[in-house]
Amino acid sequence: MQFKAPRGTSDILPQQQPHWEFVTRAAADVAARFGYRRIDTPLFEDTSLFKRGVGTDTDIVQKEMYSFQDTGGEEVTLRPEGTAPVCRAYLEHGMSSWPQPVRLYYVGPMFRYERPQAGRYRQFHQFGVEVFGDESPEVDAEVIELGWLFLRDLGLTGLKLRLNSIGDAADRPRHLDALRGYYSARLADLPAIDRERLGRSPLRLLDSKEPQSQELAVQAPRSIDYLSDASARRWESVLRAVDRLKAVYPELSYEVDHRLVRGLDYYTHTVFEIEPEGAQGQSTLLGGGRYDGLMEVIGGPRTPGIGFAAGLERFILNLQKQGVGVDAGRAVNVVIVHLGEAAASVALELAAGLRRGGTAALMAPAGKSMKAQMRYADAVESRYALIIGDREIAAGTGQLKDLKAGEGQQVEVKLDAEAVARAVNAA
Ligand code: HAM
Repeated sequence: MQFKAPRGTSDILPQQQPHWEFVTRAAADVAARFGYRRIDTPLFEDTSLFKRGVGTDTDIVQKEMYSFQDTGGEEVTLRPEGTAPVCRAYLEHGMSSWPQPVRLYYVGPMFRYERPQAGRYRQFHQFGVEVFGDESPEVDAEVIELGWLFLRDLGLTGLKLRLNSIGDAADRPRHLDALRGYYSARLADLPAIDRERLGRSPLRLLDSKEPQSQELAVQAPRSIDYLSDASARRWESVLRAVDRLKAVYPELSYEVDHRLVRGLDYYTHTVFEIEPEGAQGQSTLLGGGRYDGLMEVIGGPRTPGIGFAAGLERFILNLQKQGVGVDAGRAVNVVIVHLGEAAASVALELAAGLRRGGTAALMAPAGKSMKAQMRYADAVESRYALIIGDREIAAGTGQLKDLKAGEGQQVEVKLDAEAVARAVNAA
């Protein structure tokens, strides 16, 4: 029997790491430019945090959570998303006494028991941001701008922003009633799964993956028609604020999409998603929105919040698809090729001296031919090979070969870590 990584998970191999570093560095850079500070929360939390926070009627809580009882009898869940944990941390650490708004970001793995396919995994990674304690429409625009700039920094183009307002808890019942009325009159056209959903959460029918439901959703009652005056004014202000951003980002195109309701229960007012042009909601790169009621749901005082999360695997797929080049990062500076026992001891000491001084150095595999050792130096993409045999030891100098400069680029260098480091780092 041969073990494999669990279905829906994958190893990130060395050759894929430059893409990951590129994307996570871009996330940290853009977050810093907006003044967001990093937070890391545990990979698992009390199960009830997600049941309450994300909502018991959502797909996530209904069927996608990795939940188990630990040995001490606690019910815990591998985090399926980051917003509820960050809200929990905000309350636990009294962040309401910090200057508001509090701006936070996170990068890390999330876990959902989903049917794996391209861009959908059971362990995936999110870059997420959350802002607490500021209800102004300008903050909605800021969070959208941050997401947009992140994508731009990554060199992704051809993106579409979709926006909607789903109002607040007081607006919601009117819209839900209208949806129930609309769909009840069309029950015969609804697939069984959505007929069942209608009773529990009619909003979910708007972003259903079932083709018949998608057709029906086009004409379904729109949430923006059921907003209170205050919610409607807020929505107009958000649109105006996003329009202002176009002065700086002329390419920022958005579409108001009344079928955009998001799959988590905590959202209020603004919701948004960014996806590649023509993607039809199947490969959303980034999604988020406002969640002014969430903090109360998990036992805190009313605190406005807004954020988004981006799925990093999807970015990497898109980067590869769009052929965006990524710097392979720092390679080995020098591999020491050594022939004979005496040379091995000299090489060991030289490699140690080089590393201690900050130069990436390693010994080629011992007991192999010179040719095989040189092949290894090539394979690890070393810039130089330092060749030491008995003759070199006697002379006190080795041959330093530049592997990137073509044939014949070889100099003699003293067998001393400082001298080798100088020669190697001079380039
Ligand atoms: P979400 O829409 O569930 O929102 O996930 C956000 C992003 O995570 C998606 O747009 C997608 O790129 C990625 N993603 C989700 N599930 C998977 C999966 N199974 N495999 C690969 N990528 C996936 C949230 O998680 C909210 N917490 C976002 C948020 C933050 N809202 C407010 N603040």
